[in-house]
Amino acid sequence: MAAGTVLVTGGTGYIGSFTVLALLENGYDVVVVDNLYNSSKVALDRIELICGRRPAFYEVDVTNESALNDVFAKHPDIDSVIHFAALKAVAESGEIPLEYYRVNVGGSISLLRCMEKHNVSNIVFSSSATVYGDATRFPDMIPIPEHCPIGPTNTYGRTKSMIEAVITDEIEMQRRQAEKAGQPPDAWNAALLRYFNPCGAHPSGIMGEDPQGVPYNLLPLLGKVATGEREKLLVFGDDYPSRDGTAIRDYIHVLDLASGHLAALKYLREHKPGVKAWNLGSGRGSTVFEMIKAFSKVVGRDLPYEIVGRRLGDVLDLTANPSLANKELQWKTERSLEDACADLWRWVEKNPQGYRQDPPPELLEA
Ligand code: NAD
Ligand code: WQD
Repeated sequence: MAAGTVLVTGGTGYIGSFTVLALLENGYDVVVVDNLYNSSKVALDRIELICGRRPAFYEVDVTNESALNDVFAKHPDIDSVIHFAALKAVAESGEIPLEYYRVNVGGSISLLRCMEKHNVSNIVFSSSATVYGDATRFPDMIPIPEHCPIGPTNTYGRTKSMIEAVITDEIEMQRRQAEKAGQPPDAWNAALLRYFNPCGAHPSGIMGEDPQGVPYNLLPLLGKVATGEREKLLVFGDDYPSRDGTAIRDYIHVLDLASGHLAALKYLREHKPGVKAWNLGSGRGSTVFEMIKAFSKVVGRDLPYEIVGRRLGDVLDLTANPSLANKELQWKTERSLEDACADLWRWVEKNPQGYRQDPPPELLEA
């Protein structure tokens, strides 16, 4: 018997596809909904290559409530939802704010309405460390615990904190209603997972991040410098008050992040906590220079970079205090920065066209 049936929105995307893989590997049945705006169906083939199982897939936009309802109706066994589908480019969110609110907030509302209609009462939501904004305004809260006051500084981050509030209000209302109706009040539960900086790829080299547009995150850009697609990395500022002048982030391997979702799902089912936020990070901060050094080491040569001014909106330090997730979810990161760099490099070097090419035979034979 399946461990449960999970609807995964955004399940062909980067973090979604790794979470789908982990769910299938752990005996769950999975139904994926994605409009392929920033991903490809090939991710499903790679999942099947790795684990021998494939999720059901629907090319559906989460803002299309009626199409989403049809998916729930076709799969009455869905008992939980993991909600990844969103637009996620920070700079773009300031250019087209209404689109970010429509897709991220509007899509989440459609999803919650479908859950209400079909009585699906557990949701794990992809939130982000970006909801904390500049946590260095609270110096005693670095590394950042979940009780650090949130204060997003960009439109994307505000969509995430807004969705956290929408989910909280919905779950609390459902619990009150159940109590009034004399039903068990604890059926409705939500995990708000605040990811720090996801990175890395599958150690097999056949699954990784393959966005439709141009990457803007540090490690994918370093990958492009290593393959020669980019001449050099631009380092955004070396005048931060850090150990080497560059900004600090908490990089977390995508496989560890995926397992965090399974731990959260299990916790919701076993403990029925209502709404709870958890940081998913390693607790270890790395500077931009340290990342360049770590990636250069796995590539085997120094990678060229140039120091330029700070990027607008960047903050000094976003490092997680993950002790709540360590304790309550019995989850912690297991992979090192070196693992993440080595796995990313294998993926990038062996698949220069990402999912637009077949994986090289040496990887399939391994
Ligand atoms: P991604 O772009 O690879 O995945 C998002 C998926 O959602 C894509 O497959 C995309 O096609 C799909 N999607 C977008 N709009 C949709 C819509 N209207 N209907 C249906 N599907 C839609 O991004 P990711 O890095 O895997 O991020 C997944 C989630 O985690 C997002 O919610 C993101 O905001 C959040 N997050 C990401 C990071 C990060 O650095 N990658 C950090 C913190 C939080
Ligand atoms: C990391 C560090 C840059 C590129 C973003 C979102 C956040 C979350 C994760 C979704 C920073 C520096 C980068 C470059 C550089 N996403 N850098 N040169 O900004 O920490 O977080 O992705 O929720 O919301 O804001 O990640 O990878 O862009 O940057 O020097 O070309 O690398 O300044 O210090 P960031 P990033």
